Amino acid sequence: MSKKRFYIETFGCQMNVHDSEKISGVLSREGYSPAGAPGDSDLIIFNTCSIRQKAEQKFFSELGRIRKLKKKNPNLMIGVAGCIAQQQGKKIFRRAPYVDFVFGPQNIHLLGELITTAAASVATEDNPDVANADLPVTRGAGGKAWVTIMYGCNNICSYCIVPYTRGRERSRPSENILREIKELAARGCKEVTLLGQNVNSYRSDRDFPELLEEIDALGGVQRIRFVTSHPRDLSERLISAVQRLDKVCEHMHLPLQSGSSRILGLMNRGYSCEDYLSKIRMLRHSVPGIAITTDIITGFPGETEDDHTKTVEALKEVEFDGIFAFKYSPRGETKAAAMEGQVADEVKSRRMGEILDVQDSITLKINKKLETSLQQVLVEGPSGTDRKMRSGRTRSNKIVNFKGQNSSVGQTVTVRIIRARKHSLDGEVV
Ligand code: 5AD
Ligand code: SF4
Repeated sequence: MSKKRFYIETFGCQMNVHDSEKISGVLSREGYSPAGAPGDSDLIIFNTCSIRQKAEQKFFSELGRIRKLKKKNPNLMIGVAGCIAQQQGKKIFRRAPYVDFVFGPQNIHLLGELITTAAASVATEDNPDVANADLPVTRGAGGKAWVTIMYGCNNICSYCIVPYTRGRERSRPSENILREIKELAARGCKEVTLLGQNVNSYRSDRDFPELLEEIDALGGVQRIRFVTSHPRDLSERLISAVQRLDKVCEHMHLPLQSGSSRILGLMNRGYSCEDYLSKIRMLRHSVPGIAITTDIITGFPGETEDDHTKTVEALKEVEFDGIFAFKYSPRGETKAAAMEGQVADEVKSRRMGEILDVQDSITLKINKKLETSLQQVLVEGPSGTDRKMRSGRTRSNKIVNFKGQNSSVGQTVTVRIIRARKHSLDGEVV
């Protein structure tokens, strides 16, 4: 009898990408094998994201398309996972009765049961013990791996749905994390990215700087990254760990969200723009040349032209290596969704355009300074745009495309940067 096949479609952040690796691991354990396309599968799982309305709409339109496959093949099973699943639970069946089961990010371990019971089952319980459940993981190739260190989030940022979908903060015991990384290293992994909504509030028998120290001391893995850090909790001890520990890469993603302290207050971020700038100065003083990236939200309720100008000024002052900018999207239960002064979509778009224009020239200016420099690049695979080229990243997390057919995935090569682009660098192996 041929094996049953599954297909996973993933939306959203790195957490979801990594959760899909766990879903894939559980399905493989249950005897399924991966299918190349949705049409070739017996089970399709959507791992969904609800951070902005656009992500949600995209999922529902994809789901609608898959319905046709189910009409052709009534035995096809459809599961909905991730943040929309957690938030909407059984409401999903009302909208899409052809869905077989729904499970949230805290219930991936129940997937084995769900595929046998199916029939409109829902698994969205809060599950604090999931922090201890070491699920099988099917990882992507490329010498890199995600490792969850904590689940959930205790910061109630007024715009954010995550605390409602991923629950309260739970840190994984450090011994489980260290064991996982040792196993990865033994299988040839060269880079780990530690995942958590707010990694600097990691706390088990260790705190986050202590955890970094222990991972740095393990053999094998050469690079350590982590996302995401909260500016309020960025401590001198963490900065000192980044400075001191050889394997911890010189890059930090530190979401600013707005350059207006008034808006930051409304967002409940727990820092002012001045606090943020002083942390950046501290970081750059201790770790010269560190790359810093950020997230910006445009058109938060009540954002005036003056607030927007302050964000543009903050971008010019900090000179981030790169940013992700998003139009504010009101989310169900969040406080900001009910705030007065919702901003019109055209205004959000115009402000976002201005922000991206300012940032593009900053990014290009920073990248230009790297021309002729030598960079250590961890090879990830063929370049996305030209399969004859290789692609990898510098320690500062910049993408480098280069000629070098002989370099293999997971190898670190020295590359001279010959041309800077807005979102990547071109280089040649020396
Ligand atoms: N609308 C727009 N952007 C949002 N983000 C989080 N919630 C929202 C929302 N409701 C952005 C923040 C966060 C990033 C992951 O997504 O900038 O840092
Ligand atoms: Fe990730 Fe947030 Fe989207 Fe959930 S809602 S998948 S935590 S970005």
